[in-house]
Amino acid sequence: MSITDLPNSVLAEAAEDIGSNASANPTMGDIIAERLSRRDMMRGILAVSAVTAAVSPAALLAACSGETDTTPSFKFPELSVGIDETHHVASGYDADVLIRWGDKVLADAPAFDPGKQTAATQARQFGYNNDFIGFLPIGGSNDHGLLVVNHEYTNAELMFAGLEPGLGKAANYEKITPEQIDIEMMAHGGSVIEIRRPRDGKGAGKWEIVAGSTYARRITAETEMRISGPAAGHDAMKTKADPEGLLVRGMLNNCAGATTPWGTWLTCEENFNGYFWGKGAMNKVAGAASLKRYGIPAEWYFWAKQHERFDVAKEPNEPNRFGWVVEIDPFDPASTPVKRTALGRFKHEGAGNVVNRDGRFVVYQGDDERFDYVYRFVTRRAVDMQNKAANKDILDDGTLYVARFDADGTGVWLPLEYGQGPLTAASGFRNQGDVVIHARIAADLLGATKMDRPEDIEANPKTGKVYVMLTNNSKRPQRAVDAANPRAQNLFGHIIEITPDGGDHAARTFSWEILVQCGDPGLAEVGATFNPRTTSSGWFGMPDNCVVDAMGRLWIATDGNSAETTGRGDGIWAMETKGAERGTSKLFFSCPVGAEMCGPAFTPDVETFFVAVQHPGEGDEDDLSTFDRPSTRWPDFKSGMPPRPAVVAITKKGGGKIAV
Ligand code: FEO
Ligand code: CA
Ligand code: CA
Ligand code: CA
Repeated sequence: MSITDLPNSVLAEAAEDIGSNASANPTMGDIIAERLSRRDMMRGILAVSAVTAAVSPAALLAACSGETDTTPSFKFPELSVGIDETHHVASGYDADVLIRWGDKVLADAPAFDPGKQTAATQARQFGYNNDFIGFLPIGGSNDHGLLVVNHEYTNAELMFAGLEPGLGKAANYEKITPEQIDIEMMAHGGSVIEIRRPRDGKGAGKWEIVAGSTYARRITAETEMRISGPAAGHDAMKTKADPEGLLVRGMLNNCAGATTPWGTWLTCEENFNGYFWGKGAMNKVAGAASLKRYGIPAEWYFWAKQHERFDVAKEPNEPNRFGWVVEIDPFDPASTPVKRTALGRFKHEGAGNVVNRDGRFVVYQGDDERFDYVYRFVTRRAVDMQNKAANKDILDDGTLYVARFDADGTGVWLPLEYGQGPLTAASGFRNQGDVVIHARIAADLLGATKMDRPEDIEANPKTGKVYVMLTNNSKRPQRAVDAANPRAQNLFGHIIEITPDGGDHAARTFSWEILVQCGDPGLAEVGATFNPRTTSSGWFGMPDNCVVDAMGRLWIATDGNSAETTGRGDGIWAMETKGAERGTSKLFFSCPVGAEMCGPAFTPDVETFFVAVQHPGEGDEDDLSTFDRPSTRWPDFKSGMPPRPAVVAITKKGGGKIAV
């Protein structure tokens, strides 16, 4: 028996996790959502203005209780919530657009013209929906380096005229042209750009892109990549185009990521299921049950119309070649990106990492699906900090673990190792390749804790704490509530703080607690637990990406705040983690309407904060924002120019560290 022949009894429960708990009854979540939409619609249309000091009575009580010894970590005037057509940053800061969808990346790229896009031009220009951003200094400089940027997905309805919003929209199937599909494929992947910041005598200065840089590179859905680690050459990785299972074309839906101490970029494939077709043929497809555990085929994009590798009826193994962490050396534009399969296959959010005290490299990973898991990978070897080249294949050899969060506030990392526990032939696993390719199924068998959509995870190198963003899970029933996921119909998400036992990120055990349950603290039924010092602009819902700056401070980017959900747009909130201020958050940056906030990244000197404004103007069934009638034309605001996802560089007016 192989993993693809697993009995339905093993897979049935797992498959159920893919968002299928459709109930006709209104849930508590629906009731809260309805109440919020009425109440906060008003708030959402308020113009952005200076925040008034809104100190709650509870905060005053806390201040009188003797806990006055802690000073806030963040010093900036808080921005006030609101949603309009543009972005806003705290007073005293500049937020300048650095690069937009369609801008030149390669030297021979033509100027962007939304009416004249072709796949060939898009392959040379900045891609769509910038997500993760990494800054890799050149020569140790804070003012000169490479910026690596993920292009997660495309919004065809905002890129091209005449289409409707919505993934997999049947009305778009015939309308989208073959060229537009290929433009979408070229708008995926990633970009490498070289940037620098000339400073004036006072230390201020604007970032600029180095034209004609030899590092400039576009990675797309067609770039050839090498498969390494336990799944390389595995039978389940072989296709007609690649009979050896060693090479794959492209990376898909690269969401968050990380950089490494040896100067590479880890870019993580997330919702790769959306590109595959074949719903009608699933009863004939080999391995259908395991594909289903990954939500394949979801049929969100129409690429399979002209690229048959995206049709599982024709190429059933192609989906196994996506859902990985990809390592790219941005300092060598000729290098082949590598899919590091030892880190497991799932819907990776990011790859927050830390060099452990014993020198081993530890990568924390969230699998962003309702009821999926938190993972950790620990290399076998120590990182060589003196010789960067010595770390070339360090990620091919190590142990993947999945987290179990116990009710008493402790937890265990369960190893996904072939031959251990249930991961044997009796369950269909024949080797470690099976384990990493079907990591979700292996984790199911190990009894991992089903989480409320684990997104970004970051370790704080100063304190050893690890922060896990759990964005929301509207489908968690009351009967499935647990200590680590304590709210049924969790609309607004929460953040867990993990403390590795003995300060060892490779330890088998840890303790954990909830840093904050998100949502409106003013609505008792929401159950939010922000520190009462948090102002009415300071709370948020749906934490997604995060970053810890070099001063050890936690910053959170959100995805899903809107006039309807929380009466505020997505943005960046600064979150206190220590002392009497713990759990207090403060708004620093807000996105234009329709956008989610991605990519937060700092220069090492904490003087520049790069953020990614993703899908500005994105609407839904109720808000038909399209190329022809977008809800914003950010950031150009020119007639005929659609909204454009863009990277924004935030600096302090006159220079200096952010929020100090
Ligand atoms: Fe692409 Fe989980 O956000
Ligand atoms: Ca995200
Ligand atoms: Ca991050
Ligand atoms: Ca998200």
